Amino acid sequence: MEKQERICHVVVIPYPVQGHINPMIQFSKRLASKGLQVTLVIFSSQTLSTPASLGCVKVVTISDGSDTGSRSIADLLKQFQATVTQKLSQLVVELGISSGHPVSCLVYDSFMPWVLEIARHLGLTGASFFTQSCAVNSVYYQIHEGQLKIPLEKLPVSVPGLPPLDVDELPSFVHDMESEYSSILTLVVNQFLNFRGADWVFVNSFNPLEEEVVNWLAGQRSIKPIGPMIPSVYLDRQLEDDTEYGLSLFKPALDGCMEWLDAKETGSVVYVSFGSLAALGEDQMAEIAWGLWRSGCYFLWVVRESEEKKLPCNFVEGSSEKGLIVTWSPQLEVLSHKSVGCFMTHCGWNSTLEALSLGVPMVAVPQWTDQPTNAKYIADVWRVGVRVKANEKGIVTKEELEKCIREVMESERGSEMRRNSEKWKKLAKTAMGEGGSSEKNITEFAAKLASKFN
Ligand code: UDX
Repeated sequence: MEKQERICHVVVIPYPVQGHINPMIQFSKRLASKGLQVTLVIFSSQTLSTPASLGCVKVVTISDGSDTGSRSIADLLKQFQATVTQKLSQLVVELGISSGHPVSCLVYDSFMPWVLEIARHLGLTGASFFTQSCAVNSVYYQIHEGQLKIPLEKLPVSVPGLPPLDVDELPSFVHDMESEYSSILTLVVNQFLNFRGADWVFVNSFNPLEEEVVNWLAGQRSIKPIGPMIPSVYLDRQLEDDTEYGLSLFKPALDGCMEWLDAKETGSVVYVSFGSLAALGEDQMAEIAWGLWRSGCYFLWVVRESEEKKLPCNFVEGSSEKGLIVTWSPQLEVLSHKSVGCFMTHCGWNSTLEALSLGVPMVAVPQWTDQPTNAKYIADVWRVGVRVKANEKGIVTKEELEKCIREVMESERGSEMRRNSEKWKKLAKTAMGEGGSSEKNITEFAAKLASKFN
């Protein structure tokens, strides 16, 4: 009988939201390009048509169990863990049998630290993947270690490797002790349950973007920055046909936004997106609409289907000469288009990394979770954008939005932000290019795993 070649088989398991799936897809593609066999597991409660593969990465989709009527966030999280724990061991064994290559490593989202127990039970290597910024994770680490007490005792908060953080610069869950989001605070703090136990810890960041905080965390245990995890065509062009993440939980827009952008002048368009989860109030949507209108700029605004009814009456028709509103965009293509002059963003970590890597300055309009801390870095540390100020009712007014858009699009400070963005763009490419700091970390991981098979 012919002896089958032994190949290292890695299973990658993202938490099932767009902002976690995207970077972990990219990590999967990078590992596959280094000769590993990679299977990506997507949990879904939606009827989602996923491709059977993304390049060399095989994709399997299984139900996350959230379709059985749970209500509270805490219940949903508990049910998710129970379902995945039950299904994952069996899936991993079956994947080994069906492919002819037993699985030797699980790369799991740090939101699911309990996957390490499954890895241990099956005798596999376990690697944790943090999809959010190191700064944000450092705040959660301090809470986990009891160094930062919640409720907060004094402000500003001082965290090693970070600038002092004021109340509205901290991740929002820090303030949610009494609300139903308290279970999400537990989830994010629990990422550190087996921080020291995991065989590898990866972070979607790059040196020198968060150098100080990466170095401080690395002093607690070895962590490996491997980012920015965006498609290769925008960075080092090492992977063929890697032009998009490839798996969207949202229906791609058929609104011709690229043709619309083609017809606009260089740097004349404000691209607006609040990511995949944020839900804005109707009042806030109206302020954004009129703020864009007042700025006099062209705008391309992503308003997800679930948010469309919040748009002010007649705004879509009335503003059609200046703006295009779409339900979902090819964001990377949009950000790299010459017509886009700035990105009004909710500061999700992927959107932030994408804008930095593509050299686009930002108007930071953070909503919740990690976004306020990302906004702090955008405005005050990397100096690639301006952060809006909310009024006493927590609303960002149209006047404030207009002022911030004009600052980025028209002022001398805006030109400086653009120059800073260009600098980060180059550094992102260097980190991911041959011999770059992130690229080396990925190569080292792949080589160590593969060496067990030689
Ligand atoms: C939020 C957080 O802020 C993020 O850091 C967290 O870990 C998960 O929750 P999200 O709202 O999805 O994430 O924002 P972001 O992290 O920016 O991810 C959104 C992704 O969707 C990006 O990769 C972006 O390119 C993509 N996207 C967004 C599109 O492809 N099209 C769109 O129209 C909008």
